[in-house]
Amino acid sequence: MKNKFGPLLFVLTVSFTNNILAQTSSLSQTLSNQQMIQSGRILFTRHCSGCHGNAADGQGPASQMLNPKPRNLVTGSFKFRSTPTGTLPTHEDLIRTIDQGIVGSSMPSFRLLSHSEKLSLAMFIKSLRADWKESEGSSISIPDPPKDIFGTKSTLLASAFHGRKLFIEACQTCHGDKGLGDGPSVDGMVDSENRSIRPANLTKKIIKSGPSAKDVFKAISTGLDGTPMPSFADTYSEAQRWNLVAYVFYLRGIGSGTYSESADTLTDPSKQKKNKETKTSTSGDSSWN
Ligand code: HEC
Ligand code: HEC
Repeated sequence: MKNKFGPLLFVLTVSFTNNILAQTSSLSQTLSNQQMIQSGRILFTRHCSGCHGNAADGQGPASQMLNPKPRNLVTGSFKFRSTPTGTLPTHEDLIRTIDQGIVGSSMPSFRLLSHSEKLSLAMFIKSLRADWKESEGSSISIPDPPKDIFGTKSTLLASAFHGRKLFIEACQTCHGDKGLGDGPSVDGMVDSENRSIRPANLTKKIIKSGPSAKDVFKAISTGLDGTPMPSFADTYSEAQRWNLVAYVFYLRGIGSGTYSESADTLTDPSKQKKNKETKTSTSGDSSWN
């Protein structure tokens, strides 16, 4: 009997023990998750509820005076995500928002909190929605900005030339011909909470999603959920989206005086080459400055 069932008993015992171990470790994991959420709640009351409210519904005492309003974290949409439109942000997205704040709004940076405090806050925010797990998106891949576009001013302007066509086609109705945020659809524009909202003035330095080419690519690709700003991930190829980013950079350059607004600044790159050939000896590249 012993010989016959010994190995089986051994296997059963081992798998039983493993099972218990697995259960214990997932139990302690759950416990520590609960503890983190609990400490996130305490941190939230201390640092965030003045704006976001004790119930995280965006109705804190300071919210009356703020525009844009603090987010309702229980039912609101999230603007700053690396995930596709219609999904919830990842852990890292939340930590990034907490870490960096949102420039151009009253949402401050909490850079001075420790990483585990930021993590607890992110876990607390996720615990506010029963559907978080199933609705969380996965980050879309954001490639490095192509060097043959962002390497030099003239390659950037050549790409912006193509970007402008797409911009007129898809963006100017909201952002306006010159990117000032004054397109024909602006009147009566509201966000998902029925509050009035304006398209970004793209000639201004501040882009809430962040200033880098990757940040702008991300905003165009994911859209800003809860606002009229749509996702263009399915509309335009990666190459086209980089041309749009180049055009946004060009518009910002006009705002800061780096580029001139004269109609001929963006010329067809194929024609531009010919111009350049005849021009190099005299004026060089100074027209881009
Ligand atoms: C002084 C007011 C203020 C405080 C304090 C504040 N927030 Fe905010 N928060 C805002 C505002 C305003 C927005 C919306 C900005 C916008 O829509 O552009 C916002 C947005 C957010 C968002 C949404 C980001 C997105 O992708 O849409 C998160 C998450 C957030 N806050 C978390 C926090 C946490 C966590 C704390 C505390 C550690 C905190 N906030 C403290 C004002 C505040
Ligand atoms: C239906 C209107 C609409 C269209 C079309 C639209 N946008 Fe927007 N866009 C907005 C609004 C509204 C905001 C501001 C959201 C906010 O402040 O929270 C915005 C914001 C932005 C931002 C700034 C994001 C930030 O983080 O501050 C960029 C960049 C941008 N849009 C680029 C584009 C480009 C490029 C296109 C065309 C491919 C486009 N938008 C098309 C409405 C639109």
